[in-house]
Amino acid sequence: SHPGWPAKLGPLTVAAGNVTVRPVRLRDGAAWSRIRLADRAHLEPWEPTGEGSWAARHHISAWPALLSGLKSEARKGHMLPMAIELDGHFCGQLTVGNIVRGALRSAWIGYWVAKEVNGRGVATAALALGLDHCFGGVGLHRVEATVRPENLPSKAVLRNVGFREEGLLKNYLDVDGRWRDHVLVAMTSGEVQGSVADRLVRTGRAAWA
Ligand code: ACO
Repeated sequence: SHPGWPAKLGPLTVAAGNVTVRPVRLRDGAAWSRIRLADRAHLEPWEPTGEGSWAARHHISAWPALLSGLKSEARKGHMLPMAIELDGHFCGQLTVGNIVRGALRSAWIGYWVAKEVNGRGVATAALALGLDHCFGGVGLHRVEATVRPENLPSKAVLRNVGFREEGLLKNYLDVDGRWRDHVLVAMTSGEVQGSVADRLVRTGRAAWA
């Protein structure tokens, strides 16, 4: 196994309830499929274009193969594929990818959260827990994220945990069927005072459960 994997993060309490983050697993399939099928309009504009129909890609039967791909990347130390739980129930994913060691010690982070529980701090808490883990147990120096300029909720989440804007990546990623510009944001370990989660607690956005 690799530094910081597997791990269970949290809980951190926000308006929605208790948020924890832990590795994805086989029995997430039912909730994953139900939410992803119901929330297509909420998710599709912001996510990498996939092959095949949304319905086929998110049928419950698609989960085992998707999961085994994620777990194989995790075993190689390239990825941390995690589920976000709200009060013990699967409600989204937090993924750290392209983990590079050596003199970079860098990765990207991304997330989605079920529409039903949006706007009550779940993504912000999960991202803070994930970042603290990246800079802690995983031993990374830099974490970046990319977001479409039009994705105002996600830009708010990134800003609220302390990400810094680095620039605009033109025609960067194939999202929702086209090459889309993305804003690049980043954070290095030295920029974090205490921990990212502690900062949310200090500013009244979260509480330790
Ligand atoms: N304009 C501006 N800000 C908004 C808007 C809006 N229309 N709607 C919501 N917000 C703000 C909220 O006010 C809140 O900020 P605040 O705490 O300062 O008030 C913030 O957006 C949302 O924070 P949370 O409640 O922690 O986030 P939530 O749990 O609702 O999840 C997320 C947000 C992840 C973007 C969710 O809506 C989602 O899954 N969207 C679809 C997929 C997606 O966009 N994923 C992110 C891709 S980019 C990346 O992964 C780096």
